[in-house]
Amino acid sequence: SLQLLEVSKQILIENDRGGYTIPAKGLYPYQWNWDSALVALGWATLDEGRAWQELEKLFSAQWEDGLVPHIVFHQPSPTYFPGPEIWGSVEQPMGSTGITQPPVAAITVRKLYETALNKELALQKLKELFPKLLAWHRWFQSARDPENTGLVATLHPWESGMDNSPAWDEALYNVPVDQIPPYVRQDLGHVDSAMRPKQEEYDRYLTLLYRFRAVNYDCNQLYFLSPFRVTDLCTNSVLYRANLDLRWLANELGQDQIAEEVDGWIEKARSAFDSLYDEEGGLYKSKDQLTGELVTAKTSAGFLPLFARVASASQAADLAATLERWLNRVKHGIPSYDPESSNFEPLRYWRGPVWVIINWMITDGLRAYGYEDLALRVEADTYELLVSHGINEYYDPVTGAAAGGKLFSWTAAMCLAWLS
Ligand code: DGY
Repeated sequence: SLQLLEVSKQILIENDRGGYTIPAKGLYPYQWNWDSALVALGWATLDEGRAWQELEKLFSAQWEDGLVPHIVFHQPSPTYFPGPEIWGSVEQPMGSTGITQPPVAAITVRKLYETALNKELALQKLKELFPKLLAWHRWFQSARDPENTGLVATLHPWESGMDNSPAWDEALYNVPVDQIPPYVRQDLGHVDSAMRPKQEEYDRYLTLLYRFRAVNYDCNQLYFLSPFRVTDLCTNSVLYRANLDLRWLANELGQDQIAEEVDGWIEKARSAFDSLYDEEGGLYKSKDQLTGELVTAKTSAGFLPLFARVASASQAADLAATLERWLNRVKHGIPSYDPESSNFEPLRYWRGPVWVIINWMITDGLRAYGYEDLALRVEADTYELLVSHGINEYYDPVTGAAAGGKLFSWTAAMCLAWLS
């Protein structure tokens, strides 16, 4: 609807901080990595130059080693914890966090480039961004897969973007809580605590942060010392897809050798992905690298290999059947956690609620595998959710009620780029 588009546009404009977009006022007052890469898709429908700028701002914070941080602290903000002085120190605050997030950017760059009306600008921006994308993807290979398994490790729940996913319960509760400085959460001042991660989880998030800080976020050490190390399906699916797009971009730029290098990562990942498939459950599962076990939790990330294009035709058929079962259990899809499970929580962050960006990714995957009807069903359902409940962070799959942050940028961007 026109009104929905107008509201979405206003949200991006309101959350624009001059070249980058905050996810939501108060709750998330900085630039978040994968939020920004998705928000750029929304900007592209309004102003191509502004879309490119979003990525430029993000990559302006890239580290020497190639890491693109999960949050960039462009300007101080007292409404967020843990901010620059926790990641760094009171004496020397850091300009960013020292961990990353699912690497959506290359996917966005290809989309912006392919759909650009201003081709000249697009080619110029592609040339500038390409080496930075490549450095980040190489960093994933060396820093997050030093043992060359084909799949990358995620070392902090915040890196997964799905902080309190039930997929991390076992691995996270194996992390001992250290003696850490007392702290006050700020998120609970913005959003009801029933919708947010729990205190026991935050204690561990902070424990990990302080352990990483103690070695200055040295990417050669973190993989080996982190007491939390998982193979996250979301990160690996997004990376796989992003590598397909990076290879495409390399070809476009005539960079054959780089295309070959990326191809090597893709090949290796393709065979490794099968080790994450749970045939009986009809779903992919994340893995705890420290115990070597697939996690038991069934989450919406389990469908993301469709977005990656890494599932086989028969796996895709299983995934589509599982998804249909889930959809039939709730009023609004896609729940982030198996609605048949006994600890399904329809309001708590990644333990049940619907996330529009995940709906977009899964829908894109369903289409690619020929499940058009199912894709249309999710699409219509998502649209209806936004029309009736507004542009929010996430939604209760049972009632549709809005939850989390309000006037939320990446949901607005999906409305502009996908549902319009
Ligand atoms: C938060 O603060 O809740 C974010 O998810 C961290 O990235």
